[in-house]
Amino acid sequence: MPNPLLIGAARSPLARRLISGSKTTRRVVDRFVAGERPEDALAATQRLVSEGLTVTIDHLGEDTRSAEQARQVTDAYLSLLRDLGARGLASDAEVSLKLSALGQALPGDGERVALSAAREICTAAAAAGTTVTVDMEDHTTVDSTLTVVRDLRADFPWVGAVLQSCLRRTEQDCRDLATPGSRVRLVKGAYAEPASVAHRSRSEVDAAYVRCLSTLMSGPGYPMVATHDPALITTADELALAGGRVTTSYEFQMLYGIRVPEQHRLAASGRQMRVYVAYGEDWYGYFMRRLAERPANVTFFLRSFVSS
Ligand code: FDA
Repeated sequence: MPNPLLIGAARSPLARRLISGSKTTRRVVDRFVAGERPEDALAATQRLVSEGLTVTIDHLGEDTRSAEQARQVTDAYLSLLRDLGARGLASDAEVSLKLSALGQALPGDGERVALSAAREICTAAAAAGTTVTVDMEDHTTVDSTLTVVRDLRADFPWVGAVLQSCLRRTEQDCRDLATPGSRVRLVKGAYAEPASVAHRSRSEVDAAYVRCLSTLMSGPGYPMVATHDPALITTADELALAGGRVTTSYEFQMLYGIRVPEQHRLAASGRQMRVYVAYGEDWYGYFMRRLAERPANVTFFLRSFVSS
């Protein structure tokens, strides 16, 4: 499970100052983040698409604390979507967004602010000819996020939802969302969650992932299998085959910079492979969650300090 210390550090202002101020950090961050400017994300997208992969782009940022900041994030997505359309990338690249970046946690009417911003972004995505997937954050936000996704889907039925197999509630959420055309990205979950709501051991989370995937694969929706786990990738193909699915009726997704040869292997074998490309200046929380997922990344990060 994600290392709780590092997940805690992802939300600590002091750790943020210490870690993001270092030049060495920057070099390691480049492994997971396409860059700070939209141009960097577009260049990475262009390259991945030319290699036969598809893309979902995330403008980094979360826990927005002001309406102005939420507006800036919304405008960044609107501009990105215009660029995707103008460069002919919209059929291969969509966007992923976090509702907390759009103001979901603002006091009072945060959910309404985030819904209205997400609606604007979906309208721009439709105009560009692409889709939107709404990321899932920690368990306290799941009800609100699924409510927003439901509202968006009334006008934009292609809006994707994300479900986390670590949460005990997710098997029921999978049953509820396994409806015709429903795009559901299944992940293990990147947040440190309490045992009252979440499976805590790796084996329980993996077993829950298989049960959830089985529900999604046997339903009429469009499963998006977001994992780097080799055993789950094999299971996904087996479940798809057993359910009589063709390879265009589901897709694999992985994060930018992680298991890159496997991304190419899957694409070359005719499977649909989408890469989650994160860009932006606010990379700290995203980067810390990538470290928390894998002890080897922390070692790699610490070694780069020693060798710098
Ligand atoms: P697991 O962590 O068990 O890793 C399996 C193998 O993959 C490892 O042994 C290693 O080889 C490789 N690997 C995994 N993580 C690595 C890393 N950081 N660096 C290097 N190698 C690594 N979560 C969430 O809560 N909400 C969300 O909206 C999303 N969205 C999302 C989109 C996409 C496209 C992906 C792929 C993932 C997410 N996640 C997410 C993150 C997800 O919840 C999870 O934390 C990571 O995918 C790691 O879990 P795995 O399923 O890869 O398995």
